[in-house]
Amino acid sequence: MPVVERLHAIEILDSRGRPTLQASCQFSDGSEGSASVPSGASTGAAEAHELRDGDPQRYRGLGCRKAVANVCGEINDVLQGRAIDSQEALDRTLVELDGSAQKSRLGANALLAVSLAWARANAAKQRVPLYRYFAQMTGFGPPTVLPRPTVNLFSGGAHAGGQVPLQDLLILPRRAQFIPKALEICVAVYEAATDLIADKYGARRLTADEGGLAPPFSHCEDMFEDAMLAIESAGYRPGEDVCLALDVAASQFWRDDRYRLEGSLSAESMITLLSDWAQRWPIVCVEDGLAEDDWAHWPALRSALAGQALVLGDDLLCTNPSRIQRAIDEGAADALLLKVNQIGTLGEAAHACQLARDAGWHVTVSARSGETEDNWLADLAVGWSAQHIKVGSITQSERLAKYNRLLAIADSTSLPIAG
Ligand code: PGA
Ligand code: ZN
Repeated sequence: MPVVERLHAIEILDSRGRPTLQASCQFSDGSEGSASVPSGASTGAAEAHELRDGDPQRYRGLGCRKAVANVCGEINDVLQGRAIDSQEALDRTLVELDGSAQKSRLGANALLAVSLAWARANAAKQRVPLYRYFAQMTGFGPPTVLPRPTVNLFSGGAHAGGQVPLQDLLILPRRAQFIPKALEICVAVYEAATDLIADKYGARRLTADEGGLAPPFSHCEDMFEDAMLAIESAGYRPGEDVCLALDVAASQFWRDDRYRLEGSLSAESMITLLSDWAQRWPIVCVEDGLAEDDWAHWPALRSALAGQALVLGDDLLCTNPSRIQRAIDEGAADALLLKVNQIGTLGEAAHACQLARDAGWHVTVSARSGETEDNWLADLAVGWSAQHIKVGSITQSERLAKYNRLLAIADSTSLPIAG
């Protein structure tokens, strides 16, 4: 049984230049692991609490020294010398130690850093690749397929300059059977889109937080039209070889029960618009098509898109088992966007994943807009047999760390992509 010798953490910087945590965990047998935590921009209101210092003199209040001190101090003091037999037991201990409803006392960022570092150390102790450790910890069994990448092509909303309210338009290489081909296709479409926006908008390759292209679109629908053109000019057939996915991030423009999307729309009109888009373009997945607290209208969105596009809940669900259970009961969604830092520990995220799987939902394991060069996300998506992985665009090393890890896993396992 692993015995914690020492937990340590430091403040590091994420892809937006904001502080976050990197924790390391050493076991008494010498095994060790370290891991870094990401951070969102369009965060759901129900997310676990990211502890920030609030000192305006440092990083505009975003410093993480308190969270670091919690890892090196209180959490280390409690875990040091303790033999803990499972990830679940560790994560339960962390949650109980924090004791608050949204992990605001010690910080969800502190708890997740420890949860992940302990996982890496345990995988090292067992001498198994991290994805296999993740599969074992959930009892899901060894993976037989790899997740299909969904890749940001265009961005707006909170991830770009807000040129259009839609947050991300993603491409999904539908037919590719192996990761290398899937990524090759995504890069080809991205390059074609880069040429297209240079010609059409005179726009240079300026990118949004996750690397999506962000030309000055006049209308949301320009995003779809330009995506179609980019897919074709890369030599692929839209809807056949490459499909679209959409992160509407509708909570960002929902005020007073209206959706401020090129005008002011009721929920009913918003649903009609999304289903019209899904008929006109090959959209196979719509994320956060409605706002996180507009529970009353999600079942109608799901009915309107049934058979056409997955209804994927991000801010709606916040990787939170009780919100997921509610969505299952009410028929509000049929796919889970899983972001471990929304809930705060691996164990709780595994429970969320299990609930979604048992309900027959699709699972997309997702990065955040603020990321680090750590690549555990690829192992998580593989180990938990997610159908899709969402890392952002196909540029920038904090994104490519995950794709490159997927390439390595694909090489060592020879596994094909899911369905
Ligand atoms: P976030 O965005 O990390 O800024 O929350 C990612 C997403 O909405 O999927
Ligand atoms: Zn989202």
